Amino acid sequence: MSGAPAGGAPEDPLRPDRLPFDRRFTPSGAYAQLRSAAEANPEEFWAAVSRRELFWSRPFTTTLGGTPPEYRWFEGGELNAAVNCVERHLAGSSAHRVAYYWEGEDGARRTLSYADLGREVRTLASSLAEQGFGPEDRAALYLPMVPELPVAMLALAYLGIPFTVVFSGFASEALAHRIQDLGARLLFTADGGYRRGRVVPLKEIADRAVAQCPRVDTVVVVRRTHLEVPTSSVRERDWGELLARHAPRVPAREVSSEHPLFLLYSSGTTGLPKGIIHGTGGYLTQVAATTRWVFDPGPNDVLWCAADIGWVTGHSYIVFGPLALGATSVLYEGALDHPSPHRFYEILERYGVTELYTSPTALRSLRRHGDEPARSHRLGRLRLLGSVGEPINPSVWEWYFRVIGQGRCPIVDTWWQTETGGILVSPAPSLDGRPLKPGSATLPLPGIDVAVFREDGRPAAVGERGFAVVRRPWPGMLLGLWDDPERYRSAYWGRFPGVYYTGDYAVQDSDGYLWFLGRADEVLKVAGHRLGTAEIESALLQHPAVAEAAVCSEPDPVKGSRPFAVVVLKPGIEAGPGLAEELASGVGERVGKFARPERVLFVAMLPRTRSGKIMRRVVQAVVLQGDSVGDVSTLEDEASVEEVRQGVARLAAELAAARSSRSS
Ligand code: WTA
Repeated sequence: MSGAPAGGAPEDPLRPDRLPFDRRFTPSGAYAQLRSAAEANPEEFWAAVSRRELFWSRPFTTTLGGTPPEYRWFEGGELNAAVNCVERHLAGSSAHRVAYYWEGEDGARRTLSYADLGREVRTLASSLAEQGFGPEDRAALYLPMVPELPVAMLALAYLGIPFTVVFSGFASEALAHRIQDLGARLLFTADGGYRRGRVVPLKEIADRAVAQCPRVDTVVVVRRTHLEVPTSSVRERDWGELLARHAPRVPAREVSSEHPLFLLYSSGTTGLPKGIIHGTGGYLTQVAATTRWVFDPGPNDVLWCAADIGWVTGHSYIVFGPLALGATSVLYEGALDHPSPHRFYEILERYGVTELYTSPTALRSLRRHGDEPARSHRLGRLRLLGSVGEPINPSVWEWYFRVIGQGRCPIVDTWWQTETGGILVSPAPSLDGRPLKPGSATLPLPGIDVAVFREDGRPAAVGERGFAVVRRPWPGMLLGLWDDPERYRSAYWGRFPGVYYTGDYAVQDSDGYLWFLGRADEVLKVAGHRLGTAEIESALLQHPAVAEAAVCSEPDPVKGSRPFAVVVLKPGIEAGPGLAEELASGVGERVGKFARPERVLFVAMLPRTRSGKIMRRVVQAVVLQGDSVGDVSTLEDEASVEEVRQGVARLAAELAAARSSRSS
């Protein structure tokens, strides 16, 4: 759906000048070797990777089991994620290695060694066990980017309690939906969190959510700000008190490989966000291996994944991947350009960051401040740059390479999804010196089989746009969707039988390089955050004036794309800027400010199929093509229906009128 190129300006990814960009890295051949080992025997390959990267308290007996598409990795094996990420690093000198350099937006700082992390995780886990929590429970975390967040995730993993982290930008209704859907009993939150110098009242938002979630019986509150917060109606525990307790120490709970480690709610093609389930053994194998292949953090390196732990990137490359390898990371609480654009570069310099991983949106917003902030800081320790979450515009890639990387650092454009658990397609400079091409994620990592299919399920030709698919299961794949096995099968395995459907458009060039071009479905990427049109539409429909709503996206120079709402009002209701603002704010209050449509267009009618379904893809095409309706008949067969044609023409005319009244 958000087929718009990132950053607004159309840039042809297959322009002939985009030839091999940097050939300075000597091919080591490791990539070729791993790849051919994986092709020869994928299961043996992943079994060896898993044994090397993880500590299994009981070895697995079957590498790949289950019934397709419910694949199960490393059956028979038992392990614990907190043991793998913390406990096993506590012997010897690695206990003193820094796990996190934390910096609050307000300037607060804390350094946590693996020993510190281990102590907090164990103490919290023991206190939670004493309160009666165990593997049959589920927890939700609604916290800012503070060290308590990974500590809580690991303590829950220590006890085998599956959890979901809810991004702290979500509003109470979105939080309540996730807590309730998961049936969580336990919630972690904070009095507040800092964002752009303001305090976000997280506890207050959480209290409103908890009021709708009768199953929650305990709320643990972290004191981050000095915001006065009222006590909620359910049992409340203070984080500091739980950590000061001397509860009897409990051992880490060894769980089966397929035991759910966490769930992340994410938007799909239809309906409200679904709980994507990740298991323990397969997921950890994928994130540990890809952290090594792609970032290769050495003992003196400092990795900064400048994402939020509320999204999958933070789970995999701030928490589980780096910790599994015993690496050192930066954890930063706030906005990258607060209080000035120097903040970002100060962090790089202060902690001597060697590997930086961020999003095209962040890079586009940093680039707006020019080259001077980067030039005025010492960035000489940087050796690798990463990008994730959206297609990166070649011009932004080149700026990243030249200004932040000072022409020295390879860029890893990493393609993956919440569902894939870890990176699937990316350059891997530690494995080979393949030439980079700005805007391409290059080749699949070893053991990963990605292809581009036509509508009819046959492979697309070189240079032909099609749908990205994964032809062979991989360890980090989702286990399923919470409480909805049918939707798991149809959403991912139904479109091309036996093959995983990603929902992305892609093109493969003559070198076999993959270029991911954005979503082919109704998922929006706004500033790299994943949102479903259905979630925003359902928020709009809750307003009494709204009869129908279709949400699509329009290009945004910084965020890549932003939501655009087209609304039909109930009879007798006057449209106007006041109402548009009210509807947009309603989305902010129900879903979260980051989901607010910047523009709301009122129309008399939306194009529909004969069976009455709103043709959102047609609305999208009209919005993207501006005043000209263009050839929408190729978009949907049903667009040939006269009614649709009329609806489209009317929509285009109304859009043009709205544009000219805005510009006059
Ligand atoms: C998009 C984020 C182009 C893609 C890790 C995918 C990308 C969706 C890239 C998943 C990339 C992610 N180039 N597009 N390097 N990485 N995407 O679940 O559309 O938040 O399907 O996971 O982000 O978003 P999600």
